[in-house]
Amino acid sequence: MKDNISVMISAEEVDKRIAELAEIISRDYSGKCIHMICVLKGGVYFMTALSNGIDVDVPVTLDFMSVSSYGDDTKSSGVVRIVKDLDEPLEGKDVLVVEDIIDSGRTLSYLLDMLRSRKPASLKVCTLLDKPDRRVVDMDVDYKGFVIEDKFVVGCGMDYQQKYRNLPFIGVVEQP
Ligand code: IMP
Ligand code: MG
Repeated sequence: MKDNISVMISAEEVDKRIAELAEIISRDYSGKCIHMICVLKGGVYFMTALSNGIDVDVPVTLDFMSVSSYGDDTKSSGVVRIVKDLDEPLEGKDVLVVEDIIDSGRTLSYLLDMLRSRKPASLKVCTLLDKPDRRVVDMDVDYKGFVIEDKFVVGCGMDYQQKYRNLPFIGVVEQP
């Protein structure tokens, strides 16, 4: 059956905001190299677009990790299992974790503790979306694209049952 998806944030607005974030981040990391960590799979579209916008004078390196949270499709449990670890050590690097969305904050909080123990020079977070209403773990988010209300969204890397990651806008799957 075909799902009915409504637009919450248009592709134009998403692109414009990502370009703004890239400009701010380029300024903040001037004279440094950004080691971006993408949390698969949701973060991959955002990381690609964000890194494309980073100033040519600020070198970017990439690494990927995949975690799985023991929970159902729409809710994470806070117990996180590393499915694919990073390829490179983090020691001395200026690390920027790139996430699609922060919801309860459980996944990211677990991840940040683990990454911090690997002694990066700095550790920051950039998320495309923030859903603060559902936060159960308090955390500082350094860069965020949009703050959204408590709706389950798809597109720009985010999925519903693994579908719709490729949509260029932020959409809401309307319940029939
Ligand atoms: P958290 O641990 O509750 O913060 O969950 C974070 C992860 O759950 C995100 O990185 C997404 O992969 C997924 N997630 C949370 N909310 C949504 C949503 O509205 N749409 C799609 N995925 C979501
Ligand atoms: Mg994610």
